[in-house]
Amino acid sequence: MRKKIIAGNWKMNVKPSETAALVKAIAEATRQYPDVEVVCCTPAIDVPAAVAAAAGTHVGVGTENCHWKESGAYTGEISTGMIVDSGAKYVIVGHSERRQYFGETDETVNLRARAAIAAGLTAIVCIGETLEEREAGRLNEVIERQMNVGLKDIAAADCAKLVIAYEPVWAIGTGKTATPDQAQEVHALIRATLARLVGAETAETVRIQYGGSMKPGNAAELLAKKDIDGGLIGGAALKADSFAGIIEAAQAAK
Ligand code: 13P
Repeated sequence: MRKKIIAGNWKMNVKPSETAALVKAIAEATRQYPDVEVVCCTPAIDVPAAVAAAAGTHVGVGTENCHWKESGAYTGEISTGMIVDSGAKYVIVGHSERRQYFGETDETVNLRARAAIAAGLTAIVCIGETLEEREAGRLNEVIERQMNVGLKDIAAADCAKLVIAYEPVWAIGTGKTATPDQAQEVHALIRATLARLVGAETAETVRIQYGGSMKPGNAAELLAKKDIDGGLIGGAALKADSFAGIIEAAQAAK
């Protein structure tokens, strides 16, 4: 039985001074849904405020990126040791916006994911195809490549700290959601690919989130699908009531 995991990806949207109020409102609005793992992945500069506000609640905190080196001359980057030291427990790796705007590749996704897991963080590894790739019939090839390279040398024993987020790029921030059947089809492919990489038994334990315009109004039908174990939420994670609406749907789908 996989515990549903709903994570907010705040992206570059919330200031440090606004963070405590949002985290507290989310904790308050989702207290009654104990069967769902609730996470806020925030800009690194918001993490101390988020961790302080989440203390004593069921809400976990994460970052949106990490570097693979422990320290050194990497201006602008943050190490997994810094993230652990800050009290955050999760990190998003390989988001399509990192791939699109910041030169992230499957190889660097792999380095970051392995470093995160080695540090004891839960790595939320993002994969997904562009509209162009889907329309060219390359969906399976893209997902398999992103997993073969991005998850290389991640062993079955590491998978307790692995979450995969399937985010079709064409559904992110566009209001276009994959239909539940479209999403389930790719989630099944992801689980089958994972079975090949780490074994079928372990693959059954790994949570696979859907991300891309998930909202309270469409969450229930997505989360009802067999291989959809949660959501990675952008826009709807920035307001406690809409985020809580998705978490309520996850609780009902458990
Ligand atoms: P939206 O929910 O705003 O479409 O963003 C999804 C996403 O990119 C989460 O990582």
